[in-house]
Amino acid sequence: MNRLATGDLWRPAAAKVLARTPQTADTFLYRVAFADEAVASSFSHACGQFAELSLEGVGECPVSITSSPDDRGALEFCIRAVGEVTREICALDEGAALGIRGPLGRPFPVESFCGKDLLFVSGGIGLAPLRPLINYVFRRPDAFGAVDVVYGARSPADLCFAQELERWRSGTAVHLTVDRGDGSWAGHVGLVPDYVDELGLRKAPRVAVVCGPPIMIKVELGRLAAAGWSPGEVWTTLERKMRCGVGKCARCLVGPKYVCTDGPVFSLEELERLPWAEE
Ligand SMILES: Cc1cc2nc3c(=O)[nH]c(=O)nc-3n(C[C@H](O)[C@H](O)[C@H](O)COP(=O)(O)OP(=O)(O)OC[C@H]3O[C@@H](n4cnc5c(N)ncnc54)[C@H](O)[C@@H]3O)c2cc1C
Ligand code: FES
Repeated sequence: MNRLATGDLWRPAAAKVLARTPQTADTFLYRVAFADEAVASSFSHACGQFAELSLEGVGECPVSITSSPDDRGALEFCIRAVGEVTREICALDEGAALGIRGPLGRPFPVESFCGKDLLFVSGGIGLAPLRPLINYVFRRPDAFGAVDVVYGARSPADLCFAQELERWRSGTAVHLTVDRGDGSWAGHVGLVPDYVDELGLRKAPRVAVVCGPPIMIKVELGRLAAAGWSPGEVWTTLERKMRCGVGKCARCLVGPKYVCTDGPVFSLEELERLPWAEE
C-alpha cells in the first residue's frame, strides 16, 4: 500500500506539471506526471494519503493526493497559496519541474466503509483530501449505501471543484452552502455544521468523513457525537506542520502519535485519546 515512488524515503522523484486549473483566487489544481516512466508505473496510492511536494531552493510541504487511485496516468494536487512554498508552487505553469516524495501516511479504511451510508462533510480546500474517496465511491455505487456530500465555503467564489460537484449530483446528494451569499447565489447560506444539523442526515449503518478548517472539524465532530454517532463511525484527516513526513523528526506529534505516519486519517475514537484539538 505504502509503496514509495523512488524506493527512497528521503529523495524526491522528479515530476513536471501537465496542467494548472484555477479553483479560486488563491487555489489551483495541479495535474503532474513523474519524469521517469518506471517511477510512474510503480507508483500507487490509496484514498487519504499525501505527498511531500518540493521545489529546489525553496522548500517542501505536505499536500493531499486529490486524484483517485483509479486514475493511473498522473497525480493531482489542489494547493492553496498561504506561505512561501505554496505560493511558489502556485506560480508554476505547465511544464515546470517539481519533486514528489510519497505516497505517505495512513489512508482511509475504505473496505470497512463498504455497504454503509456515507456522509462527507467538508469546508473550503478540505474537499481536496476527500475528493479521491468520493470519486472512488462514485465509481462503485453498488458497494456503498446512500452518499451525501455537504460542502461549504466562505463565499460562492471560494467553492472548489465546481464541475465535479455537479457531476457527483448524478447518484450522490450534494448539499452546498456558503457563509456569505452574493447576487449570483440562490443556494443555502450558513455554516457547514449548522447545515448538516438542518439536513438531519441520520442513517445506519453509516460513516461520516469530515475535513475542513480546524474549527469546522472540531465543531462538526462534536455535533456528530452529540447527535448519537458513535466515535468509530466518524473519521477525519488532520493537518499539522510537518518536516520529514516519515515518522523521524517528531515535528507532527500529537500526544504519542505521528500525524505523518499514524495519520493523517484518524477516527474520532482514536482522537478521543489524543490532545488533537489543542494546537
Ligand atoms: C497531511 C497534510 C495534507 C495537506 N494537504 C493540503 C492540500 O491538499 N492543499 C493545501 O493547499 N494544503 C495542504 N496542507 C497544508 C500545507 O502543507 C501547508 O499549507 C503548507 O505546508 C504551508 O507551507 P508554506 O511554506 O507555503 O507556508 P508557511 O509559510 O510555512 O506557513 C503559512 C501558514 O500556513 C500554516 N501551515 C504551515 N504548514 C502547515 C500544515 N502542514 N498544515 C496546516 N497549516 C500549516 C502556517 O501556520 C502559517 O499560518 C496539508 C498539510 C498536511 C499536513
Ligand atoms: S513530520 Fe517528521 S515525524 Fe512526522
